[in-house]
Amino acid sequence: MKRHLISAADLTRDDAVLILDTAEEMARVADRPIKKLPTLRGRTVVNLFFEDSTRTRISFEAAAKRLSADVINFSAKGSSVSKGESLKDTALTLEAMGADAVVIRHGASGAPYRLATSGWIDGAVVNAGDGTHEHPTQALLDAFTMRRRLVGADAGTGRDLDGRRITIVGDVLHSRVARSNVHLLHTLGAEVTLVAPPTLVPIGVEQWPCEVSYDRDSVLPKSDAVMMLRVQRERMNAAFFPTEREYSRRYGLDGDRMARMPEHAIVMHPGPMNRGMEITAQVADSDRCTAVEQVANGVSTRMAVLYLLLGGNESAISPTPARTEESK
Ligand code: ASP
Ligand code: CP
Repeated sequence: MKRHLISAADLTRDDAVLILDTAEEMARVADRPIKKLPTLRGRTVVNLFFEDSTRTRISFEAAAKRLSADVINFSAKGSSVSKGESLKDTALTLEAMGADAVVIRHGASGAPYRLATSGWIDGAVVNAGDGTHEHPTQALLDAFTMRRRLVGADAGTGRDLDGRRITIVGDVLHSRVARSNVHLLHTLGAEVTLVAPPTLVPIGVEQWPCEVSYDRDSVLPKSDAVMMLRVQRERMNAAFFPTEREYSRRYGLDGDRMARMPEHAIVMHPGPMNRGMEITAQVADSDRCTAVEQVANGVSTRMAVLYLLLGGNESAISPTPARTEESK
């Protein structure tokens, strides 16, 4: 595995399967009375967030803490970034504090790559979402969720998602989640179809390893999982569709449409959801929607990523429950 996690496209099938299998081990820890492992004791993980986040920031923090790392949370709001401090000087400050891993979310596509290749810091860099580019740990936790829901207890062969049909619907143009999922799911052998209004399909999508369809209703009945994307108003500088009502009618998911999906098929959403826009409350609150499960799976997946990037090369978990300082 590479030293940094910048793009889902950088992961080989073996890398991805190793992360997902390790996440499965980490998930078992969550079922123990003591959820902490001593694995990263003495290591420091910095969460560097220049863009808003609820799930990603909290779950990276929970993941690092469950591995006993020290965690420093930095959010650009309220920091010296408002005084004009650059990414470089911010990074050098973190380096002075001895960061072993830096988890970065930034509005500029490429910021994590810049950090990883600049030489400003020595630690591993993890992309927690950069502009409209990538969000690789989201794709990993999504694949983990699909494995668990679609394959269940028999998962772990490394070929679990082979031939599975995954449909991603909505604002693909502004979605780093879609881009990372297309790459990772393709690597894992799934067949991905994007469904979006023509105005929200990125230029160059023909190069992506997936199909594009404008006909939601013909794709849904053939899908094993349907991933709804949020309409990302904060990234829109023009009108991409006539009205919200029109968008939800043509590209949203409601109970009637969900009923046309195969019985085993799941509905996914990375969050945050715009209820009533891309997804109705009825669908969001149904048993088939995995949005909350995805958040829980995010902690195990991010534990696996931090563990593997910070040098873990043996089983993360000892066969007997680990005893941490706190539990002694
Ligand atoms: N939370 C995800 C992201 O930051 C998806 C979204 O915001 O719609 O990319
Ligand atoms: N899915 C996701 O990345 O959520 P946040 O933006 O809340 O972190």
